[in-house]
Amino acid sequence: MASLHPSHSFPKPSSSRSAVLQQGVIEIDEAINLTKMEAGESNNNTQQLGEQNGICLTWKDVYVTASMGRNGSRAILQGVTGYAKPGQLLAIMGPSGCGKSTLLDTLAGRLGSNTRQTGEILINGHKQALAYGTSAYVTQNDTLLTSLTVREAVHYSAQLQLPDSMSKAEKKERADFTIREMGLQDAINTRIGGWGCKGISGGQKRRVSICIEILTRPRLLFLDEPTSGLDSAASYYVMRRIATLGQKDEIQRTIIASIHQPSTEVFQLFSNLCLLSTGRIVYFGPASAASEFFASNGFPCPALQNPSDHLLKTINKDFDQDTELDMNGTGIIPTEEAIGILVKSYKSSERNQEVQKEIATLSKKDTGSKDKKRRHASLFYQCIVLTKRSFVNMYRDLGYYWLRLVIYIALAIALGTVFYDLSNSNDKIKDRSSILSFVSTFITFMAIGGFPSFVEDMKVFELERLNGHYGVTAFVIGNTFSSVPYLLLVSLIPGAITYYLAGLQNGYEHFLYFFCVLFSCLMLVESLMMIIASIVPNYLMGIITGAGIQGIMMLVGGFFKLPNNIPKPFWKYPLHYVAFHTYAFQGLFKNEYQGLKFYMGQVRGGSNNYIISGEEVLRNIWQVDMNYSKWVDLAILIGMIVLYRVIFLVILKTTEKVKFIVASFLSVSPKRTIQIIENPTATPLHGEVV
Ligand SMILES: Nc1ncnc2c1ncn2[C@@H]1O[C@H](COP(=O)(O)OP(=O)(O)O)[C@@H](O)[C@H]1O
Ligand SMILES: [Mg+2]
Repeated sequence: MASLHPSHSFPKPSSSRSAVLQQGVIEIDEAINLTKMEAGESNNNTQQLGEQNGICLTWKDVYVTASMGRNGSRAILQGVTGYAKPGQLLAIMGPSGCGKSTLLDTLAGRLGSNTRQTGEILINGHKQALAYGTSAYVTQNDTLLTSLTVREAVHYSAQLQLPDSMSKAEKKERADFTIREMGLQDAINTRIGGWGCKGISGGQKRRVSICIEILTRPRLLFLDEPTSGLDSAASYYVMRRIATLGQKDEIQRTIIASIHQPSTEVFQLFSNLCLLSTGRIVYFGPASAASEFFASNGFPCPALQNPSDHLLKTINKDFDQDTELDMNGTGIIPTEEAIGILVKSYKSSERNQEVQKEIATLSKKDTGSKDKKRRHASLFYQCIVLTKRSFVNMYRDLGYYWLRLVIYIALAIALGTVFYDLSNSNDKIKDRSSILSFVSTFITFMAIGGFPSFVEDMKVFELERLNGHYGVTAFVIGNTFSSVPYLLLVSLIPGAITYYLAGLQNGYEHFLYFFCVLFSCLMLVESLMMIIASIVPNYLMGIITGAGIQGIMMLVGGFFKLPNNIPKPFWKYPLHYVAFHTYAFQGLFKNEYQGLKFYMGQVRGGSNNYIISGEEVLRNIWQVDMNYSKWVDLAILIGMIVLYRVIFLVILKTTEKVKFIVASFLSVSPKRTIQIIENPTATPLHGEVV
């Protein structure tokens, strides 16, 4: 097998090299020759060394079925067998929908929960799940923080992923070098951009995603369509850099990439090719021998045609209904039949025997190099980096806090002027309670406005966690601390405007308490929304669920219906005590009424100036529990914040574990394979495998 490990050094990337994409086409020929030489010059020694360092991945008779609810199940992969060795680039090709991404997901151990998988996947001869973070996976869709620039995104990622043993400068250098390697130096200070603001192009986003994943120089690299959105010259350079990653650190990598539409130059970079059609293997073997295999089965590649185009055209049956395109490239046999011939022919071919033999040798050979867990930055350092990154993101995303601040200020002015200057007379008792409950219900309720931005954050987090960049704890801590300054601002300015315009009880201590409760309520709503974000699949459902839950909590908080009048089962016990509004109302009411006196005017048969104390108002009118002080209410609110964040953390941690347990439960023993093979939805070819 050809190894991609180069035995001579490459010219160092320089600024002239950085402009390769513009010169592109002229340099391609020269570059191809260089790569061919690199591939040819490998020797057995380096290959053996590489195999010892690297990861051998073998998979045998892999079947994947997806359950479609009531419509039964559908076979996506059907008896796929193959291997990937260090120093080699395995390309998975096939028409869209043939199962390329599914195969990559299966090998990387991250299939969706509605799928079932059978067959044997071995890593260096061991049956072990690819633990989080042991391999790098560039997914088909780019999930990046849109407000960061390319440089920031890669730099933060380097700081998070690279171990503490590297200095900050070294990490920076690695990040800059990787950016140059991916030809992104011209876009380095451009924001990534997404919904709402235009940033770098789709192809550049693809390269940023690749950049972030290859920062750690992983030994096993999965790439799902890394060249989508790139022009042919950029595709070539990106693929060549990926293929020759090992040249710098002498570690040979195992690279598996799904790819469609490779140019001739890119095609020549592949060591092995796995050609799939509707989940079945049409060909597995050296890429260079694929055309020969097709030709020997009656599908020769026409002169002057790109071989990969020919292969894909021959096995694409998606457009069979169109009579003009009814035939495969040869114009003789319908495509379905052509695929059947090729699949059968491959099964009985010597090539298949060779693959089986290679798998047997690779799976017996215990290279002793088990899949080691990657070393990361320490948890403490990750928390600092994530806090910083999240802070910058919140600062730049107008929808996160800034818009809310403006609206809150407007609302505060409205509230302050509507309830302007509350004097100590009887009818203002109701007003005081109204303004306080408005602040602790509706103002805090609006904290769900930042939810869509948070959901975007969660998407990035989920992808990065899956790729093992950092853990759940670092994310929760980072997100909590980065939001605190904004929440302080959002509660301080509008809080002060409302408090002093309306003329609530004088005294700094009273204002401080009011501000603390407002801040805690905002934190609580954010925490509640985080829990919701970890459970519901999208932000529209999240906003509706969050609004519903808060609506119910407000209702039983003790203002709209007095505590003693709330129906006892469920609404009072336990809901009234679970709702944070209860403690917010009570705390704010105590803060406001205690120490005040209200002149009730002339009372029938009594004195002219009947006065009631704030304590009486609290006890008799609002039915506030006076057995404990307002500070206890605040302490309960703060305790709830901690509790909510811990619940969020536990949900994220357990979904990680539950997903893993479910996945290992669903990847059943070989006995099960037969049941699935006998699945009625399967094609007749299944029978032959059994
Ligand atoms: N979890 C799933 N549930 C149902 N169908 C799925 C699932 N994953 C993939 N599929 C289906 O399997 C087929 C192959 O998907 P995929 O592997 O993404 O194709 P490719 O990457 O080759 O374009 C598609 O038709 C897709 O709809
Ligand atoms: Mg895909």
